[in-house]
Amino acid sequence: MAESNTIGTLVAWARQSLDQAGTGNAAQETLWLLAHALGLESHQLASKMEQQVPAEVRARAESLVSRRMAHEPLQYILGSQEFCGLEFHVNSSVLIPRPETELLVQEVVRGGSGLNEDGVLVDVGTGSGCVAITLATILARTRILAMDCSPEALAVAKENAERHGVIDKIDWMEGDLLSPLRETGMAGAVDVIVSNPPYIAEADWTGLQPEVRDFEPQLALIAGQKGTEFHDRLLKDSKQFLVPGGLLVMEIGQGQSAALRQTAAQVGGYTALQVVEDAAGIERVMIARRTE
Ligand SMILES: C[S@@+](CC[C@H](N)C(=O)[O-])C[C@H]1O[C@@H](n2cnc3c(N)ncnc32)[C@H](O)[C@@H]1O
Repeated sequence: MAESNTIGTLVAWARQSLDQAGTGNAAQETLWLLAHALGLESHQLASKMEQQVPAEVRARAESLVSRRMAHEPLQYILGSQEFCGLEFHVNSSVLIPRPETELLVQEVVRGGSGLNEDGVLVDVGTGSGCVAITLATILARTRILAMDCSPEALAVAKENAERHGVIDKIDWMEGDLLSPLRETGMAGAVDVIVSNPPYIAEADWTGLQPEVRDFEPQLALIAGQKGTEFHDRLLKDSKQFLVPGGLLVMEIGQGQSAALRQTAAQVGGYTALQVVEDAAGIERVMIARRTE
């Protein structure tokens, strides 16, 4: 960048650079990135434009802006994403929690009546832990098990649970989908299985925006040829672990509900299949109730 020693010149450079890189919302992102580099709140920048910036702070700011210019998601650069009113640490080992996934949490709280009295809930593919941890802060008496096949993701989730004071309320298990449950003697004992599984079809991968395709873990996003492979497995495997009347609550992708209704009918053992739309009117959550 041009010779620049004040916050004001740094702001002007960052905004122009982000504008040129086409990252979108350059003005707001400039404030967040520079406030982070300078150790300030973003609203404090306006009153400090004439302040000199030490060389090492300037280098740090330039490094953050360069990462964003390369389309790395802002959340990985800042290391944080808000979900259901809680801040979650994120890095490139975990999916950045999405606002639409808050619906999954709402539906579990609304539908999981058995959870109020010492119930058992399992979060499959916990990632950053956003779903399991939020639920642990709401459902005081529920036993929660959170599982993921990625040890790196589980490390992030545990860090987040520590941060929100629920580390001892959640059992963390590593393994493929529900397989960690096989050794727990929990057949027919789980009230709710909740999951936001990978659900992007392989063919759709190249069309994703660079922020997602080039930076978020493929393991968290890609399901297989159809996109519904993980939901199919969850519908098949959950039956043996759910109590009669227990719920399988899954996030689904746009246009996937019809195929999943078919799978549920083939697999059998569920009643009252329900699909809930998100704020954008997209079918987003599927709830399957284990037959009584
Ligand atoms: C879409 S992300 C959801 C993360 C988090 N629950 C959320 O909603 O933000 C899917 C998660 O499933 C995990 N995963 C992928 N394949 C898996 C498998 N076979 N068994 C268990 N977890 C898996 C990924 O590591 C990732 O953390």
